[in-house]
Amino acid sequence: MRLAGKSIIVTGAGRGIGAGIARRFGAEGALVACADLDGDAAGRTARAIADAGGQAVASRVDVGAADDARRLTAATVAAFGGVDAIVNVAGIGGLAAFLDLDEADLTRVMRVNVMGTFLCAQAAAREMAARGGGRIVNVSSISGQRAGWGRTAYGTSKAAVIQLTRQMAMELAPHNITANAIAPGPVDTALTRADHTPETRAAYNAMVPLGRYGTIDEMADAAVFLAGDDSTYITGHVLNVDGGYMAAGIRFDDL
Ligand SMILES: NC(=O)c1ccc[n+]([C@@H]2O[C@H](COP(=O)([O-])OP(=O)(O)OC[C@H]3O[C@@H](n4cnc5c(N)ncnc54)[C@H](O)[C@@H]3O)[C@@H](O)[C@H]2O)c1
Repeated sequence: MRLAGKSIIVTGAGRGIGAGIARRFGAEGALVACADLDGDAAGRTARAIADAGGQAVASRVDVGAADDARRLTAATVAAFGGVDAIVNVAGIGGLAAFLDLDEADLTRVMRVNVMGTFLCAQAAAREMAARGGGRIVNVSSISGQRAGWGRTAYGTSKAAVIQLTRQMAMELAPHNITANAIAPGPVDTALTRADHTPETRAAYNAMVPLGRYGTIDEMADAAVFLAGDDSTYITGHVLNVDGGYMAAGIRFDDL
């Protein structure tokens, strides 16, 4: 088991990528603190981990609320004796043309994706620093690196997550804390089922060299690598888990 005995917080653990990462961590021997705005859903993930023989606790957390972020770290310390890693997965999306984007919608997305990542990582990092080290993994997106229609709020927030990650990597290195980002390409989850029209799906499948959406399991593979002991000299890195999307230019499928 690659994460045996490690105490790891996963935000957004109620469903989708976060739930998949939390369950994989449990199977890899981690002590998993499942956090989500939907406390019942976080509880279901924790129960699934326990049913599979792992250890987990769950809490209802709004990552954008400073008190909740602090409470999450404190509860994890109370349950498992410390925090070895945090994976910030909680995020929200949405689409709006730049010319139509409402400032309240921009604020809402920035609050969860940027402020939430900042607050939860800062609270966990204070604990990690006091105990001699740890790992931070932030989930960004290909949308934080390339523009897409309607992605002003989401893409800008995910670009900020990348810069937050680099900032953390530099400032937390003296505390033996690494910070890296995972930038998924399109992944088949409830979020993309709501946001991606059939046309969007077809466009992504054509633009991704591997020709398909990624799976939640493939995101969990990257999270285990960056949260565990196989990545000790990697920090400040953005790991694109995107089927080659960020690498590709024009393609001729008939050649
Ligand atoms: N699905 C994709 O294709 C894709 C691609 C790139 C990046 N991502 C990112 O991966 C992450 C997970 O995506 P997903 O598709 O699994 O999404 P999802 O909508 O299925 O799950 C997101 C989870 O975050 C929780 N959440 C939302 N706001 C929260 C808050 N304020 N506090 C705590 N929890 C909150 C939700 O309750 C939900 O359980 C997001 O950050 C998303 O931006 C997803």
